[in-house]
Amino acid sequence: MDLIPWTDRQGRFSALRAAVFALLLAPALWILWRALTDGLGPEPRNQAMHESGRWALRFLALALAVTPIGRILGEPRILALRRMVGLGALAWAAGHLVLYAALQNGNLVMVLSEIVQRIYLAIGTLALLGLVWLGWTSTDAAMKRLGRGWKRLHRLVFPVTALALLHAFIQSKADISPSVFHAGLILGLLLWRLLPAARQRSLPVLAALVVAATLAAAALEWAWYAALTALPAGRVWAANWDWRGAWDFGPRPAVQAGLWLAGFVLLAAGWRLAGRGRRA
Ligand code: HEM
Repeated sequence: MDLIPWTDRQGRFSALRAAVFALLLAPALWILWRALTDGLGPEPRNQAMHESGRWALRFLALALAVTPIGRILGEPRILALRRMVGLGALAWAAGHLVLYAALQNGNLVMVLSEIVQRIYLAIGTLALLGLVWLGWTSTDAAMKRLGRGWKRLHRLVFPVTALALLHAFIQSKADISPSVFHAGLILGLLLWRLLPAARQRSLPVLAALVVAATLAAAALEWAWYAALTALPAGRVWAANWDWRGAWDFGPRPAVQAGLWLAGFVLLAAGWRLAGRGRRA
């Protein structure tokens, strides 16, 4: 198992691995810096807990993105980053729980009773336990021991991500925008996995997938507001396609997710034009 994050399996320094490790660590340093300089607002511990949850979900999405990114760009070196990013997501989720416990003044009985009483906390805890299991079985020794079953077990990352997303949706109460944005990215990644292998690198197919993921995220947002709130869900749906509103207030979260995915497809097109990457 590669214990030093910035070296490859041969023990040589890898700039790519070092950069990804820095990416996983940077938000923690940023939160710490703001905590030390009174930059986290009136409730610093609560703010840090919220931000850690968002980073945990983002890095979970990034762990799911490693395979598509590596395959689409034709860069097998990227595929080897999956374990580090997955463990990074686990570390962020564990830190999120620690910060939540700190909010309860470290009273673990209180933490447990809250988890049992609040469904969104029980769902988050289930997601975290799933991640712990995946992390525990991510070593070379576990891969060897589990053989073919390893791949099947690690497909658990999909239900774990769905649980984490559901946890984020339920806790968002009135404004589900950040959760819709993350859902858009994750839906794009899941749709990619449903494509036949021969189509997974086709740029026109990827462009269609961006549109499908944007529509799916907007539909999810509409369904959430329609089923669970008294807000005018139809107007929220329509706001996604109101370009003047987007100009004045910024794009809606589903469209933002679509723009991120489209940006990646453009990057892949540029990568190909520059003759980089090979068929992975
Ligand atoms: C894989 C595991 C988890 C992930 C990815 C995750 C992610 C998130 C996200 C994205 C948010 C919303 C933050 C925001 O937009 O401001 C959130 C909020 C929150 N999470 Fe988690 N979470 C996880 C597990 C847990 C666990 C185990 C607990 C505690 C037992 C927990 C407690 C909370 C609380 C209290 C909030 C804020 C709720 C509120 O303000 O009313 N989470 N989490």
